[in-house]
Amino acid sequence: MIPSYYEFLNSVKILSGKLALDNIPHELSSLGAKRPIILTNDILVEIGLVKTAVDALKGSDIVIGAVYGSIPIDSSVKVVNEAAGVYRDKNCDSIIAIGGGSVIDTAKGVSVVITENDDNLMKYAGAEILKKRRAMPFIVIPTTAGTGSEVTMVAVIADPDRNVKMEFLSYNLLPDVAVLDPRMTRSLPARASASTGMDALSHAVEAYTGIQKNPLSDAYAFAAIKLTREYLLRVVENGNDEEARLAMANASLMAGAAFSNSMVGIVHAIGHACGGVAHVAHGDAMTILLPHGMEYNLDAVPGYYSDLLLPLAGPEVYAATPSGERAARSVSAVRELITLLNSRCGLPTRLRDVGVQEKDFERIAKTAINDGAVVMNPRAIALEDVLTVLRKAY
Ligand SMILES: [Fe+2]
Repeated sequence: MIPSYYEFLNSVKILSGKLALDNIPHELSSLGAKRPIILTNDILVEIGLVKTAVDALKGSDIVIGAVYGSIPIDSSVKVVNEAAGVYRDKNCDSIIAIGGGSVIDTAKGVSVVITENDDNLMKYAGAEILKKRRAMPFIVIPTTAGTGSEVTMVAVIADPDRNVKMEFLSYNLLPDVAVLDPRMTRSLPARASASTGMDALSHAVEAYTGIQKNPLSDAYAFAAIKLTREYLLRVVENGNDEEARLAMANASLMAGAAFSNSMVGIVHAIGHACGGVAHVAHGDAMTILLPHGMEYNLDAVPGYYSDLLLPLAGPEVYAATPSGERAARSVSAVRELITLLNSRCGLPTRLRDVGVQEKDFERIAKTAINDGAVVMNPRAIALEDVLTVLRKAY
């Protein structure tokens, strides 16, 4: 069904391939830049990933203005301001973000601070507060395959003074170029590959079943789920499988483009709350909560879940399953994948395995029902519903 009205934007140029990094100098030149700052974290510098990207710039007239490698897992407004200071001091004219979601979101924050020439980033939190077009070219090189942040118009950045994570939503946050090169995800350990891959799968499933879905987000979500089924286990079993790495990078990107336009639902609402209250890693929360969130929504949109059996389980299973059973079978296909990932690399399957305690439930539930994703879920969510999901997932 075509919605009576929808919007969809994905303006990011995608470079995907085994030598994709080598085209960055050309992209920077086309965008009128020659002195980028590299924003990343220390571990990626240490294991040589940043060098791999920098080496790809050699022989061009691009000069690295600075490398800022102090972005932690949970980035904050302080880090954003410090990195922006380096950008200004070193007269940089563009941003290259190399990393996972935290690095990419921090880079989005830096672009805001520089564009607005204002160190008070939190002033711009919220939806479409940013009116100015970004002042510099912005290239993203993801080193995980899960967040999809390289193609989303969202950034989540913490304000440590108030102990809250603030969300920024604007078309002005979309990068210019996303570079998917399998060299950049090859060293990601199996456990992290599985966890981030399940985040991508959650984006796609929630984008396909949410109230703001549309034909374009559906197409991206469907393709992302199919690639995840075909390649996630392969990257977990052999990190050096470049074809599989590239496929998962594409799955993550497409799931990102889908949910950036149609948003996410109950799985992310509760997952964000588990992260905020009990510090559960986002991908682990997604792994644990996805089947329970699907089960919760099943009766509200059975047709959408029936559709998903095809990419989730493949054509043979889809054809062999009576139409009335396909929706429920989609949930079991996800459970089967999680069981396999658990046996291959120890991916957690219950909230008790990741440090959540029953005494946290009330706080998690209260936080979850105030999450922005709640209103996009296909079935209304009350506090008691969240508590029921938490008990089942415990
Ligand atoms: Fe996510």
